[in-house]
Amino acid sequence: MQTTGHALAAADRSLQVEYAIRDVVLPARELEAQGHEVLKLNIGDPIPYGFQPPQHMLDALAQAVAAGHNGYTASEGDPEFVDAIVRREQRRNGVSYDASDVIVGTGVTEVLQMLLGASILPGDEVLIPGPAYPPYDSLVKYFGGTPVHYATLEEEDWQPDVDDVRAKLTDRTKAVCLINPNNPTGALYPETVVKSFADLVGEHQDHAFLVSDEIYDDMTFDGRQVASATVAPDVPMVTLNGMSKVYLVPGWRLGHSLWNDPTGSLAQIKEGVLKVARNRICASSIAQKAAAAALDGPQDHVTAMNDALRVRRDFTVKRLNEIDGIHCARPDGAFYAFPRVESLVDGSGPWKDDKEFVLDYLREEKVLAVHGSGFDPEYGRDHFRIVILPDTDILGAAFDRLEAFLQRRLSP
Ligand SMILES: Cc1ncc(COP(=O)(O)O)c(C=O)c1O
Repeated sequence: MQTTGHALAAADRSLQVEYAIRDVVLPARELEAQGHEVLKLNIGDPIPYGFQPPQHMLDALAQAVAAGHNGYTASEGDPEFVDAIVRREQRRNGVSYDASDVIVGTGVTEVLQMLLGASILPGDEVLIPGPAYPPYDSLVKYFGGTPVHYATLEEEDWQPDVDDVRAKLTDRTKAVCLINPNNPTGALYPETVVKSFADLVGEHQDHAFLVSDEIYDDMTFDGRQVASATVAPDVPMVTLNGMSKVYLVPGWRLGHSLWNDPTGSLAQIKEGVLKVARNRICASSIAQKAAAAALDGPQDHVTAMNDALRVRRDFTVKRLNEIDGIHCARPDGAFYAFPRVESLVDGSGPWKDDKEFVLDYLREEKVLAVHGSGFDPEYGRDHFRIVILPDTDILGAAFDRLEAFLQRRLSP
């Protein structure tokens, strides 16, 4: 933007915030402005691809408006919604929470913001999966902490390297984050892995707690997701969950934290979160009413959604692995794939890095993916992320173009 006078200084903490997923949107918009149609495989929103929440959720939202629920709610959440969350935890995971263990926010992203804002002190380190949903890294930095990324292993379908977690867990570690299933890899962690994390945090619970992001919990294709709180009731832990993915309403902006605090070590941090929550008033009143109905109501849409996604996952893995120079591990949950570009790994291709690769693929083939280094400069590099949400015709077209692109650009 052009400034006509003196530009006031912005805080560095804001200018350093990066969000790779939206960063690639600008060049795509330019192409669209020139009249090109772009296949967008970049954003984790199921709605543009034909997935819709079930009718009973939409009816519940309309009823909430008609019933006049237009005022503020309690800052920690509408009690009806909070109770429905508690019931879901009992039903799905067999974990008994009290209503006071729940704090509702405008999406997991805000809940994470409040949690990290309340817990990070100067010098604190936060362990984050490499690669991970970008706000984990950027919010830790924003609040003056140091993100420390631990390895996840592609050759083991992106399971975490527990030895690496152990090596990086120090006296400076404040929180250890687990994202299960993971974005961007789609990895689903078995109970043994979840238990290893819990045990490690348990050994360091005088200065650390576990953050377990379970926003994709019921979005799995082969096995069931194990909630961290079921395997480690004795470990200080904050579970994050929300309505954006499994309930297909990302625009309603609802997420929540669940507090598991066996020894009271999280009491101050929770008080801090509550103060911040009061200061920003509340999440949407009508969305909370409708979300309560959604949690208690029929869940058939989950099976239908996973059946559709499984077909798309199978197609994606098979087709991508047929392409010379691409390797794709199998995602077991969420709705992403995270393929590797071999010519980036061995440097034999014409691209400087994965971002240049993704932008070239966009310009030449009009397909928008996200560069892997945007999810982690070390553990995500030489990869790209796509969503597996479109139907197989669209995915097929994107992969055909990828194959043609690679053949053309890599031919001697
Ligand atoms: C792991 C993870 N956590 C949280 C979010 C954000 O969720 P919300 O829409 O509730 O802010 C996402 C969205 O992509 C995600 O992948």
